[in-house]
Amino acid sequence: MKLEHINPCPQEFDAFPGVYAVDDKYELIIPVNTPTVMWVEIGEKKYYDDSNGILRSDCTTHKITVPMDVLDDAGKYSVCYRVVYERSPYHPSLSDVLCWESEFYPIPTEQEQINVYHISDAHGDSDHTVDAGRYFGNKLNLLILNGDIIDHCGNAASFLTIHRITGNISYGQIPTVFSKGNHDTRGKFAERFHELTPTNNGKPYFTFRLGPVWGIVLDCGEDKPDDHPEYGNTVCFHQFRLNQTEFIKNVINSADEEYAAPDVKYRLVISHVPFAHTNRPPFDIEVELYTEWCRLLREHIKPDLMISGHLHQTFVCPIGGNIDHKGQPAPVVVGSRHIHTEDKDDFVGAAITLCGNSAKVLFTDGDKQVVDSTDITL
Ligand SMILES: [Fe+2]
Repeated sequence: MKLEHINPCPQEFDAFPGVYAVDDKYELIIPVNTPTVMWVEIGEKKYYDDSNGILRSDCTTHKITVPMDVLDDAGKYSVCYRVVYERSPYHPSLSDVLCWESEFYPIPTEQEQINVYHISDAHGDSDHTVDAGRYFGNKLNLLILNGDIIDHCGNAASFLTIHRITGNISYGQIPTVFSKGNHDTRGKFAERFHELTPTNNGKPYFTFRLGPVWGIVLDCGEDKPDDHPEYGNTVCFHQFRLNQTEFIKNVINSADEEYAAPDVKYRLVISHVPFAHTNRPPFDIEVELYTEWCRLLREHIKPDLMISGHLHQTFVCPIGGNIDHKGQPAPVVVGSRHIHTEDKDDFVGAAITLCGNSAKVLFTDGDKQVVDSTDITL
């Protein structure tokens, strides 16, 4: 039974590992508070966190890539490490090997009902989001963190919010999909975001396949024009978005290995910004480019559902609904908001159950109370 046996988090780890789906790989991310060298063992095979053959220890976050099919088949893995006492040029001093073992529960291809919990816009709040994210308990199959989990990248420690939310909901036992938000682009550590979070060879946009679920993760970058004074001439997101137009076209050209592959039952678009929506100035950017993204997705990929955040609201917008200004490719779940009242600070996320040709969307708070719900026909 999943999430039933959890080995305690080692004292050297700042959070349980996160197992992030990216393309045909999982990226395991383990934040540490002590210099360590680290690798993951699956069966007899070792996957190292190394820099061209040198085991990394001058880092606070280990990132280890393993083939998805290998971990899925094994259903368990070990995070192995040595504490580094002194990394001298000759005869460095390290501890014996320590290991943390975990079960892993992939989504079986034949599984009909998939429980997904979506969190975005935590903006640094890990406690309430974790409470909300545990809605499905040990029935959770997939966690989605969809941008603005931290408020900005002004300091490296803020990344712990991401790792603690993932670790304290998934315990390293189920997959997580991660996407970037506009606040993730701000501050001096933003240019190192890809070192501390899951990416596809450095790129935060990618596809993934988890059992019957196929998805594409897109990154809109900032939400105002590149020359907006708030950014002080530090961003070039127009070109970054153009690169993703080509990426979407490449995915379409590989349809048979992607969304049209055998046994794909659910197609998801995951984007922090619901880009079919045209917001008020100065947020009304890239109308032509986002209209083209919508067209490509709508005419070729034909997704079942788009999952977004950013608006700090919780609702479902059908095709042609009130935030559909560019030709939505699918119904959009806008799925996270905080509650701040005199009596209560809380967080509402989206508990999404995919089953057959429907998606049941429950918006739930940290007390596991359903505050709103919508049924969607896919
Ligand atoms: Fe946002």
